[in-house]
Amino acid sequence: NRNIPSLLIEVLEQKLYLCYTEPKPPPATHENQAATYKVSFENMVESRRNEAFRSILVQVQSEQSCSDLHKYCSQYGEVKGMHHYSLPGSLHFVLVEFMHKSDVDHILNASSYINKKEVVPVRSPFLWFRAPKKSLQQTLNSSQPPCLMEMNRNNTPTAAELRNWMQGADSFSDQILILHRATSLNDLGSRLRFLTARQIELAVMGLFPQVTVLPFGSSVNGFGKAACDLDLVLLADRETTDTSDCRLVFHAKTLLTNGRTQVQRHMETLGDVVQLLLPGCSHVRRILQARVPIIKYHQDLTGIECDLSMTNMSAVYMSELLYILGESDWRVRPLVFAVRRWAREIGLTNPTPGRWITNFSLTLLVLFYLQQRSKHQGPVLPTLNTMISLAGSGDRRVTSDGVNCTFIRDVSRLCQHMASSARTLPNRENLETLLIGFFEFYSSFDFSTHAISLNNGMSVPKPDHSPLYIANPLERGLNVSKNVSHDETERLRIEFRNTAWMLESVALTPDKSSVTASQKKAHEVWGLTALFEAPQIAAKGRNIFYIPARKVSAPRIMDVSELFQENIEGDTSKST
Ligand code: GTP
Ligand code: MG
Repeated sequence: NRNIPSLLIEVLEQKLYLCYTEPKPPPATHENQAATYKVSFENMVESRRNEAFRSILVQVQSEQSCSDLHKYCSQYGEVKGMHHYSLPGSLHFVLVEFMHKSDVDHILNASSYINKKEVVPVRSPFLWFRAPKKSLQQTLNSSQPPCLMEMNRNNTPTAAELRNWMQGADSFSDQILILHRATSLNDLGSRLRFLTARQIELAVMGLFPQVTVLPFGSSVNGFGKAACDLDLVLLADRETTDTSDCRLVFHAKTLLTNGRTQVQRHMETLGDVVQLLLPGCSHVRRILQARVPIIKYHQDLTGIECDLSMTNMSAVYMSELLYILGESDWRVRPLVFAVRRWAREIGLTNPTPGRWITNFSLTLLVLFYLQQRSKHQGPVLPTLNTMISLAGSGDRRVTSDGVNCTFIRDVSRLCQHMASSARTLPNRENLETLLIGFFEFYSSFDFSTHAISLNNGMSVPKPDHSPLYIANPLERGLNVSKNVSHDETERLRIEFRNTAWMLESVALTPDKSSVTASQKKAHEVWGLTALFEAPQIAAKGRNIFYIPARKVSAPRIMDVSELFQENIEGDTSKST
């Protein structure tokens, strides 16, 4: 029955079950936030890292190889889960999660190379599953008991599916929730990102046994979409125990006096390791002149674009801050997704780094707006100063270069504080009201004289002449939107106004006479869909209030290294 969402198929008479979920709109409901246990950022990262320790990634011929692989792996350990995905070119992969880390060691000890003379014999959790020898095939077919296994599919919707789901929604607020649920990074995406990080960790572990390679940015801050890039930081030694009593000390090379040169040299070597030795890593580019040097590469086996840096701990704490704010109210992430998607659809953001606003800056704009929403009802989010004042003794964090990143880490306690300290009633506005309010707020914001500060949740006079000034919440005195040009700031302002006007003229509810979802889909574009398609609708001369933003001259496409070179003086700890 095709209408049943989950269809169990017995595969190849081997009593292996695939759980196949037909693409369907995600539920437009939200969990009761008071009843939900809040996982701390550190626990979330630790549990994802733990999953990666217990996982291997295996390239297979096709989905049909999965049951065979399951049986093979079960000889070496207890398989906890298998997650299948495919990449363009009919490449099929299965991420196998074992119950114990030692199971991975067993199976890697029992793995080999196709032809040792022709390859760099590197050992990593990235493998492929070759056809069995005849005798082994018979053993496998006869020996294993039936198993029940859930296969996760990479079921990201197509643009057309997403549009249909949004058109078929019951309200504007539901459209925002559907967009968020359908496009956010899923479980498999997170697993693959942590396994990609693990590959680097394993590669340098012989030299640095305490090494940690941590994902940061949208892969972990809760604002990541399905195909987001992976920002990584390599921390060679996170040991914090007091070692002053040790009588034996390691012989080691002396650090160069210029720490920056040292990092650049190490990054250069790391770039060589990634390029020459690590399976799946291609298109390695070294961008060593930026304020924070990075190595960009593509991991072909997980299909992820990576930016690897060293000693960039403040960016990890920034991700933690964003994660906590996203966790503290269920409306934050859907709103950020709606604004980021809107910016992408109308061409305000661009995947190439340049003089336009980034997703990170847009996220800060939404968070700031939610902090100062107090004029209407209570604020949705606390200010950073409040978070700092609530910090307990275990929340103290200072990076090696002295950046103080101390703020409350316990999301449940933060939520309780917000609920108990509300001067007015707690904010209960729906997503529709908040999104409309966002565009109205920034339509009248004076970007020419004021800067945005999440520290006190208020705009402050601009400290310099940057066209757009968003103060870095953790490194005060730095502007995270320093890269944004005057023209692009102007365009942003015009688009805020356009959208605020447009929201007064487009339908914000589906046609009430359309009863079924397919009738709603066929109805004229409305709500979020209309917002995203505004430029096209305006170009067709339809009846909406939309003035295309002044044409900004086409950006000169710079060589990436040139861009980073230009930004050395600025706040470009990420510079994308
Ligand atoms: P997408 O990759 O676009 O999905 O979003 P992202 O949040 O991952 O942004 P990006 O990859 O550009 O940056 C990764 C992280 O680096 C951000 O989440 C921030 O924590 C940090 N970051 C980015 N840009 C800046 C910046 O200009 N200044 C500082 N201090 N940190 C930044
Ligand atoms: Mg990123």
